[in-house]
Amino acid sequence: MQIPDPALVVLVGAAGSGKSTWAAANYRPTEVVSSDALRAVVGSGSADLDASNDAFEVLDLLVTGRTRRGLTVVVDTLGLDAERRAGWAALARKAGLPLVAVVVDTPAATCRARNAGRDRPVPASVLGAQLQRMRDIRRELETEGWEVHVVSGEASAAASAPTSSPG
Ligand code: CTP
Ligand code: MG
Repeated sequence: MQIPDPALVVLVGAAGSGKSTWAAANYRPTEVVSSDALRAVVGSGSADLDASNDAFEVLDLLVTGRTRRGLTVVVDTLGLDAERRAGWAALARKAGLPLVAVVVDTPAATCRARNAGRDRPVPASVLGAQLQRMRDIRRELETEGWEVHVVSGEASAAASAPTSSPG
């Protein structure tokens, strides 16, 4: 099943699952808003957690502007915060855009291995909590009204067509 376009697309996946890679392979750079990239813009780098509040303020402004114009926007964050998702969903509903959640489904072992190999790995306990949250996320997203697409974060990202559609 094709992902509708235009749409609000919220990526959901643990650190290292392949969200940013998938977004880059499937959307134009101007369509993607990334909390990591915006932390580097308003703060000292993508891992500057003190800059998170400002980064999300800018991110929300970008989502507001694009949805209001009926333009596709891909939200590249962990996607695990229900309150933030509800805010973006409200903006999309107001604009009449479909609510799409792209769940980047990658084996826990792959996420852990990628994380371990990174410059600034997230603590193992933090990644563990994210992976735990992923176990029930599909049901949660469907309950909230998202059209859920599951993609593999292991395959070549360009070829990772959605492997399932709303049940
Ligand atoms: N990667 C890969 N094959 C894929 C997807 C990702 O080899 N199909 C690799 C990327 O090259 C990168 C790492 O896995 O080195 C993490 O991918 P990334 O897209 O950055 O993951 P994110 O989910 O965006 O991680 P974060 O939450 O930390 O931003
Ligand atoms: Mg990323």
